[in-house]
Amino acid sequence: MKTIAVINGPNLNRLGTREPEVYGSATLKDLEERLSAEAKALGVEIQFHQSNHEGTLVDLFGQLADEGVEGVVLNGAAYTHTSVALRDAISASGIRVVEVHISNIYSREAFRKHSYTAPVCEGVITGLGFNGYSYALKQLAT
Ligand code: DQA
Repeated sequence: MKTIAVINGPNLNRLGTREPEVYGSATLKDLEERLSAEAKALGVEIQFHQSNHEGTLVDLFGQLADEGVEGVVLNGAAYTHTSVALRDAISASGIRVVEVHISNIYSREAFRKHSYTAPVCEGVITGLGFNGYSYALKQLAT
């Protein structure tokens, strides 16, 4: 059975209370419950990670590669726009990664329009809320 990891970066532990007009009122737990049910239906193993720390996310890519995880659904949050280290970790891991953003990063501030990580990901889904994670999971499961 394939294993897919869902990685949420900084401040996404605050979903539900963080800027609900941008990110909605559902929590990270709600998201993980939804994806667990979808993974079951797709016949894949799923694991969840969240960190506010860049180095932890970098370490995680190495660990997941060593574990043989086949795919990652990544919302790198603010590190998307700042982190060469995260980009290099994705690249070095050799894992298929789909980048997801809850909000539409192209309809917001100019600094969100650039992603360091997108070029080393299989694709990017932005602005579709939690549905983006579901589409990414489906992509990686098949
Ligand atoms: C985000 C968009 C990023 O620009 C922002 O820094 C986040 C969340 C999103 O899911 O819409 O923290 O990745």
